[in-house]
Amino acid sequence: MERHIALELVRITEAAALEAARWTGRGDKNSADEAATLAIRSKFNSVAIDGTVVIGEGEMDEAPMLYIGEKIGNRRGPGVDIAVDPLEGTETVANGLNNAISVIAAAPQGSLLHAPDIYMEKLAVGPALAGQLSLDDPIETTLAKASLILDKPLADMTVSILDRERHAALIDALRKSGVRIKLLSHGDVMGAIEAAMEKEVDMYVGSGGAPEGVLAAAALKCLGGEMQGRLLPNGLDEYNRCVRMGLAKPDQLLRMEDMIGHDNVLFVATGVTSGDFLHGVRYLPKHKAETHSVIMHSENRTISYIETTHHFTEQINSVRGAAI
Ligand code: FBP
Repeated sequence: MERHIALELVRITEAAALEAARWTGRGDKNSADEAATLAIRSKFNSVAIDGTVVIGEGEMDEAPMLYIGEKIGNRRGPGVDIAVDPLEGTETVANGLNNAISVIAAAPQGSLLHAPDIYMEKLAVGPALAGQLSLDDPIETTLAKASLILDKPLADMTVSILDRERHAALIDALRKSGVRIKLLSHGDVMGAIEAAMEKEVDMYVGSGGAPEGVLAAAALKCLGGEMQGRLLPNGLDEYNRCVRMGLAKPDQLLRMEDMIGHDNVLFVATGVTSGDFLHGVRYLPKHKAETHSVIMHSENRTISYIETTHHFTEQINSVRGAAI
């Protein structure tokens, strides 16, 4: 995955963020998502890759753009798997909340897991805990092991989890263990990344979207962290969908190498609304806007932040240029 591809991809997530952020707090998550998807799809045409969407807006019959299997890019470059979420946090934008991003991961063709849009149970940690824990263990065992390895009392550890009814028992167990808990309203790609950054959060647990699981795994690969997952098909239909997508044993434990089958991965994201480590789109006077993005590259483990000032034409919806 060459460096110039990262700059092209970040130009695309910037365009999506600029479009989606206009829907902040307007109570219309579909329009926000559609605006981001349109921006991403149109910008991809000029990127010098022979790309295939492996994670996108859904299957061909349910998504007009960025559907799984869709070919993208100008076909004049390397074969690349693309995982894309034009707007991770549609509700977040609709309600004007924090932590929405536009995100793309890319890896050599055939190396990203084709994850259906179902739930996945997840465990995400940073470098200090990578390779040391198992999603198969009860949560109490996982916390005890982590506390020992980090040399940190349980009361000083912070675990993040989506605040959902389905997590009631897990949250109860976390509370009984004595750890601090960060309840997320939405956005578990950022939740998993925050755990891998080893600052405020030590571990991300619970279930969220499977596509988001693969996107987060790409970021964690770059950060030296670890994501483990297990698909949670609900009923025979979802189970068969997993099998059709190439997962012979849908309930197997998925490790990093099952989700990201190559050492050379790129992850780019642009903030739509402000979050823990990316600020959201700022619309400035005189038809300008500022975006904040991150580029992660697994090969050399580089993490770069990019702040871009965009100059619009008089029609505020069309971006004239993005200087990096
Ligand atoms: P959307 O961008 O589709 O709104 O997803 C946001 C999100 O919070 C993901 O980060 C997470 O994986 C998933 O939804 C969790 O789903 P649910 O809200 O059903 O618990």
